Amino acid sequence: MLHVPWSPINASTRSRIIAVPSGQTLACKSEYGGWVLSGALRERENSTFAMNKLKNPMLAEEHETITAAVFNEWSQGDRGVKMAEGHNELLDPLFESWVFNEQSRLLDVGCGVGAALSRAHKSGAEHLAGLDLAQGMIDKAKESLPSQADLQVGSVLSLPWEGSSFSHVLSVEALYYIDEPLDAISEIYRVLKSGGTFSMIIEFFWENKGTHIWADNLPMKITNWSEQQWCTAFSEAGFTDVTSNRVIRKSTTDEDAFKPSKYWPSYEQYTDYIKEGALWVSGYKGNQ
Ligand SMILES: C[S@@+](CC[C@H](N)C(=O)[O-])C[C@H]1O[C@@H](n2cnc3c(N)ncnc32)[C@H](O)[C@@H]1O
Repeated sequence: MLHVPWSPINASTRSRIIAVPSGQTLACKSEYGGWVLSGALRERENSTFAMNKLKNPMLAEEHETITAAVFNEWSQGDRGVKMAEGHNELLDPLFESWVFNEQSRLLDVGCGVGAALSRAHKSGAEHLAGLDLAQGMIDKAKESLPSQADLQVGSVLSLPWEGSSFSHVLSVEALYYIDEPLDAISEIYRVLKSGGTFSMIIEFFWENKGTHIWADNLPMKITNWSEQQWCTAFSEAGFTDVTSNRVIRKSTTDEDAFKPSKYWPSYEQYTDYIKEGALWVSGYKGNQ
């Protein structure tokens, strides 16, 4: 991959990008350190670029190239671990409701450094599997999980397991990175056994306006669906008994300690995000 210095996206920058030879991958590193563009965008003449983000649809493969590059970068140092620590309390209600036994087979899609799998292991889950687009995340997950855990680099759009492999599938803060979430949810449905359950937890969704600024700051396109759209997609994929809940964080930052950043530019926006909570959608695969 060729790294070029960041410059605001404008017509001349775009023509430079479009001139990248076919098949070559080009990425710009933004002033924020995020990945911006892939050379595979060369033919998107009508694209409208925001400051550091592509707004138009990309082919899944191109999207995944950028997403993998971003999360490989995040996996370095302690960023992936800190991110997982930040998500941990969102899992509390889920782990109160899921009981694992010897038969349980758990898959975490977009598992990152494997923290949720590690927690499940401590709660009695023996058979663990995790998948992530980023090799760096999977490498970190291997460091902390038992050696028999089945950890794979790959895409949720093409899961490397046979149908009916798992009793439980979990996905935390991952499915909005997919351009076509229904395809991902259908693929998860395929690998679940009859009677199995899938839970997704996300903080970026339409009703949580406090998170919308993430779309302007993340270097890849992300999907901003409403609670209803996510529930409908679960049903369309085949899930029954679809439920949605909100998980409200208990640990919050006081205004005195709050430090604005590109994801949290104001305390008001941060408190809006906390109040709206995370979206937790679950569904079952009925007996067929
Ligand atoms: C925000 S991180 C969350 C990681 C982890 N679930 C956690 O809570 O710490 C999103 C993860 O989803 C992964 N991801 C994004 N798109 C994916 C895809 N199409 N297939 C598999 N993993 C994907 C990323 O590589 C990243 O590790």
